[in-house]
Amino acid sequence: MKLPFELPIETDRLLLRLARADDVDALMDYSADPEVCRYLPYEPRSRDEIEKTMERRLGFTDFTPEGHPLFLHVELKEAGEMIGEFLLFSRNVEARQGEIGYVINPRFQGKGYALEAATALMDVAFKKADLHRIEAKCSAPNDPSWRLMEKLGMRREAHFKEQALFKGEWDELLIYAILQREWVELHP
Ligand SMILES: CC(C)(COP(=O)(O)OP(=O)(O)OC[C@H]1O[C@@H](n2cnc3c(N)ncnc32)[C@H](O)[C@@H]1OP(=O)(O)O)[C@@H](O)C(=O)NCCC(=O)NCCS
Repeated sequence: MKLPFELPIETDRLLLRLARADDVDALMDYSADPEVCRYLPYEPRSRDEIEKTMERRLGFTDFTPEGHPLFLHVELKEAGEMIGEFLLFSRNVEARQGEIGYVINPRFQGKGYALEAATALMDVAFKKADLHRIEAKCSAPNDPSWRLMEKLGMRREAHFKEQALFKGEWDELLIYAILQREWVELHP
């Protein structure tokens, strides 16, 4: 299926582009880090696992209805360095529901890159892909993640208490969302 927007998505400091085979080292730099994976649905990855992940990602180039997510790698425009990843899921085609996910290499966190990339991705998702609603989820103790959602203007719609066991502990799940008309009002 043809993507409903052009790639790369360009911001002041970043490019959001498809994964490339030579991103393996950059991915290894953070996907093997236990702190990064603390609230992600996988454990720190070995080089072998990262190479397999990359092989799959190279095929994730479209916005497939209710299938795999579109994987976009975040690159610093000036340095040409890959610093993280954004995922855009199509959750329901008829109701135009989407979901985003994100990881930024800790070496590059705290500089506003996640906010810059998320704003650009959500803008095309609402304005070019015509999504009606975008959701994001995280564990309640993952402060940087829910703070990002709030900076994006998303609304906290749910806080599920002890709704699952995650990595051996009770999980508190937060769900945030924003509607297309709310986004357009914030970003005309
Ligand atoms: C969640 C995550 C992507 C946030 O990454 P980030 O790049 O640090 O996030 P932001 O873009 O929001 O920037 C964070 C800080 O940079 C500051 N900042 C510095 N320079 C800035 C600039 N030029 N513009 C905007 N903010 C800037 C902001 O004030 C913000 O601080 P605050 O949270 O105290 O308000 C990151 O913590 C991460 O990858 N975590 C591990 C993986 C994970 O858990 N993912 C989410 C799973 S649900």
